Amino acid sequence: MTTIAFIGLGNMGGPMAANLVKAGHTVRGFDVMEEAKTKARENGIDVQETAAQAVEGADVIITMLPNGKLVDSVMAEVLPSVSENALFIDSSTIAVAEARAAADKVAPHRFLDAPVSGGIVGAQAGTLAFMVGGESSVFEAARPLFDAMGRCATHCGDVGAGQAVKICNNMILGVHQIALAEAMVLGERLGLDPQAFFDVVSNSTGASWALTTNCPVPGPVPNSPANNDFKPGFANALMNKDLNLAKAALEETGTSAVLGQAAAAFYQETVDAGFGDKDCSYVIELVRDR
Ligand SMILES: NC(=O)c1ccc[n+]([C@@H]2O[C@H](COP(=O)([O-])OP(=O)(O)OC[C@H]3O[C@@H](n4cnc5c(N)ncnc54)[C@H](O)[C@@H]3O)[C@@H](O)[C@H]2O)c1
Repeated sequence: MTTIAFIGLGNMGGPMAANLVKAGHTVRGFDVMEEAKTKARENGIDVQETAAQAVEGADVIITMLPNGKLVDSVMAEVLPSVSENALFIDSSTIAVAEARAAADKVAPHRFLDAPVSGGIVGAQAGTLAFMVGGESSVFEAARPLFDAMGRCATHCGDVGAGQAVKICNNMILGVHQIALAEAMVLGERLGLDPQAFFDVVSNSTGASWALTTNCPVPGPVPNSPANNDFKPGFANALMNKDLNLAKAALEETGTSAVLGQAAAAFYQETVDAGFGDKDCSYVIELVRDR
């Protein structure tokens, strides 16, 4: 079994670390928030006073932090204390360039970018989907850890490839969620019952995860956030963050994406209007108000 240092024990990292404990690994942890530390202790994580103490003697260091700047600063803080050849796995959602810069701080065979899809529910249930960039032999060696926290792990290419596919996926989701909201509001105004809309579109060419799992009206999908006052789920603030990463990548690569840019602007407006903590399906309310 592996000794793992887990840094960032929040909504995602907390349950991911708990699943590693359940799989029999020794997990040393650190977070700056007292509440996260208390919960982690309850789940069998050996919580340390500092990140540097947490990484001492660890074979693998997993980071699950809010953004790339924090990944950079935590890595700088812990590097003097890590064992030689310890592997870094960063599961935060950060920019491709930030992931590559993080890998450059250590040898290429010592870093994987491994962002996730599946949200808090997936983190708790151990059903996350990992998308991984780095050397393939390193990915294969780390697979048992991904299996303990998720239902699938895909090797996507060199360092940065995991983050690249993550922002592409979330750019699609942002566009889908808005397109669906617009179509459902149009349907409402044409007098259509949302259940009839759901029954037809979920079996037609307009089907998407945004509809069949994250349906923005209450009723057709009983567990969707719309049935629970749009409690996330996947919060607008996180969608906004990911679409800003996509926007920066579009600009860096000179890629035209009319809909991706429009989705980024729409979610920025949603967050600026004070709805950052609502689920990303909440955009239907803004479409209704427009
Ligand atoms: N929540 C989701 O649905 C979801 C889904 C996929 C990916 N993500 C990504 O996962 C990452 C984490 O998201 P989350 O929802 O768990 O966020 P969160 O805010 O709940 O957790 C982040 C944790 O990092 C801790 N932290 C901040 N600075 C730290 C430091 N210097 N040292 C140690 N700990 C520190 C915070 O105290 C917090 O507990 C983000 O990059 C996010 O984009 C989130």
